Amino acid sequence: MTANPAADSTAYSTYDDVLEGRCPFGGNTVGGAQATPPTLSDWYPDRLRVEQLHRDGPAADPLADLDHPAAFATIDLAELKADITRLLTTSVSWWPSDYGNYAPQMIRMAWHSAGTYRIADGRGGAGQAMQRFAPVSSWWDNGNTDKSRRLLWPIKQEYGAALSWADLIVLTGNCALEVMGFPTIGFGGGRRDAWEADDATYWGPEHLDMTDPGSYDDMVDRSGRWTAEPGEPGYELQQPLAASHQALIYVNPEGPNANGDPAASAVDIRITFGRMAMDDVETVALIAGGHAFGKSHGAVPADQIGAPPEIAPMEAMGLGWHNPVGSGNAEHTMTNGIEGSWTPNPTQWDNDYLENLFAYEWEQTRSPPARCSGRRRTPRRRGPPTRTATASTTR
Ligand code: HEM
Repeated sequence: MTANPAADSTAYSTYDDVLEGRCPFGGNTVGGAQATPPTLSDWYPDRLRVEQLHRDGPAADPLADLDHPAAFATIDLAELKADITRLLTTSVSWWPSDYGNYAPQMIRMAWHSAGTYRIADGRGGAGQAMQRFAPVSSWWDNGNTDKSRRLLWPIKQEYGAALSWADLIVLTGNCALEVMGFPTIGFGGGRRDAWEADDATYWGPEHLDMTDPGSYDDMVDRSGRWTAEPGEPGYELQQPLAASHQALIYVNPEGPNANGDPAASAVDIRITFGRMAMDDVETVALIAGGHAFGKSHGAVPADQIGAPPEIAPMEAMGLGWHNPVGSGNAEHTMTNGIEGSWTPNPTQWDNDYLENLFAYEWEQTRSPPARCSGRRRTPRRRGPPTRTATASTTR
């Protein structure tokens, strides 16, 4: 058997090589094995992908016969919520909590789980905990949400099959809101987890190079995703997408093309949140409300940060974005690249995001990793006293 010329240097030259202590299913002997290119869809892009009909089917799902709502109903909800709430206000050495409270990072995890939803084709969303699988697990915007899920792992183990990851992620978001003083309106359990990555959802035309820490905008295929530049007529996001960028949940926090322009950002936000079924009022409530909590992390240049979970080395044990600087966490944490909290009291539900926004003039500045952000300049009127550095992104 001759080697595939497109294969890499580890390709086998004879069939004997294949048998000689090597796994014949390695995927680099013949293109197409193990879904390496060229796949069937590379050869015939317009073919009907009938395999999607049995995606995540009963053979892949050991809980296929489980009645998830009934199983969830056997759980003592008050006890489960108490367990989650106890976790939120602890801190572990491998990933210390900011301000002694994991609640903000858990809200981000839960919202990013829900925030992939789009109305055009009904795909995405929190229903099956797809955040555990690539590509969503390894999107830039899900940086360090792997730590949030790993923190929840002991609770998942304790409750087992009765508590799906999808329920746990959403309920943890609720508990996080409650522990910081935000009243929630209840919780409905019974979601069924997916058991394999979803390759049926179209997330955009770009091929993402996860190893390149360049700007989010570098990799956007504008001919496919947008039909024009920001501000031009015809500036419209391709359907059914509900994010302005591949690998982001909604928009570039530095503004379109990292231009730091809040007005241009508002246009993108209206389009992307509209695609998630939000009107303007709901959009403002979500963004200002969500950022009443927590902070943005940008202590370290992006090129120092390791690969996302999907392509991290085996010794990373499923975690991604290894940070070799200092402790690699706590005050050295690097997620988005912009550093600072939005409000003076990031573990308390209040209106300070908007109070702060309107009480001060803001000037554009750069975080240590050169990400575009805002810094408070002069009080427009008397503002609240601040206990932490406050920053702003373009929304
Ligand atoms: C235009 C939409 C949004 C953008 C561009 C955006 C962007 C960001 C960015 C850049 C961070 C910092 C991540 C880090 O470095 O750790 C962040 C954090 C956060 N976001 Fe958003 N966000 C948006 C909407 C929302 C919404 C709708 C919610 C919730 C309802 C939310 C909740 C949070 C929370 C709680 C944090 C703090 C996480 C922590 O402290 O670890 N965000 N967001």
